[in-house]
Amino acid sequence: MSWRKWLFLISTASLLAGCTANPATTIFHTNSMIAEQKLQLFNILFWMGVGVFLLVAVLLALAIIRGRRQPGDNSEPRQNHGNVRLEIIWTVIPILLVVYIFFITVRTMNAVAAPPREDGDLTVRVIGHRWFWEFQYPDLGITTANDLVIPEDTNIHLELVSVDVIHSFWVPNLSGKIDVVPGQQNSMWIRADNPGTFMGHCGEYCGMQHANMHFNVIARSADDFTAWVQGQQQPVAAAQGTLEEEGEQIVTAGVCAGCHTIQGTKMVGKTGPDLTHLYSRTIIAGGFPLDDATLEQWLRNSDELKPGNLMAGIRVSDQQIEAVMAYLKTLR
Ligand code: CUA
Repeated sequence: MSWRKWLFLISTASLLAGCTANPATTIFHTNSMIAEQKLQLFNILFWMGVGVFLLVAVLLALAIIRGRRQPGDNSEPRQNHGNVRLEIIWTVIPILLVVYIFFITVRTMNAVAAPPREDGDLTVRVIGHRWFWEFQYPDLGITTANDLVIPEDTNIHLELVSVDVIHSFWVPNLSGKIDVVPGQQNSMWIRADNPGTFMGHCGEYCGMQHANMHFNVIARSADDFTAWVQGQQQPVAAAQGTLEEEGEQIVTAGVCAGCHTIQGTKMVGKTGPDLTHLYSRTIIAGGFPLDDATLEQWLRNSDELKPGNLMAGIRVSDQQIEAVMAYLKTLR
């Protein structure tokens, strides 16, 4: 292939990569006032830094060029001892810059400080696990994992804790980061201006599968959110169909119950994600799109997909896999 074709292919691919339905996961595509304010602060600091760098680089280049020793000239260069005007200039200008940075930083901190609670605000408890995120909605009686579903244009107050090591909650399109610490509750708030799906990351190295500790923040319109809440509040109905019933028996009476909860069954384990409405979610195991093939791979050998996870060593046998899959797919 000629280099022109390669160039065309590469540029088309990079253009298409920007064409997903969801915004790229970056602080430069904001969907909230908080992220917007922080981006503005970043831009000011960045361009100030660029300005100072260019100024210093130009003065340095000038000094190097103009201060060169001329051929045949062996005299000492002119010695300067103290220049009050220069010293005042290079002291006052940095002080003014630092004071300005202080001022705009405090202004941004005030602008994004948590708003007073209002009617309609939502509280979500965020629990970091190695390696997935659990989300509890205490006022709604809902627990999910991997997907944080929120209504748009609503203040979401987050209470964050970890059950094991320090994680960090970060949704670049919506907010800054906050550490999620065992034994200490931190808080922050987020708000999405428009519906959409925004990827979140764990921003603090937390062990082997730190990289597979994603989550999705899914902002929905008010009606969509209400419908989602009603769906999530339904306990699981008893399985219908032979295969599903067989799967239900394996899941609820077997080893799964030690770690997972399914509302409406006798499963109340707390170590792993709540599975009540598993198939209504977009992500499984903290970083993989939830689909049949991934779920099957996970059940057959989770260690292959995500080495080091706590379910490693627990396998669903070939005879059982069809039934377990059939049952789990009813959990919508
Ligand atoms: Cu959790 Cu990195």
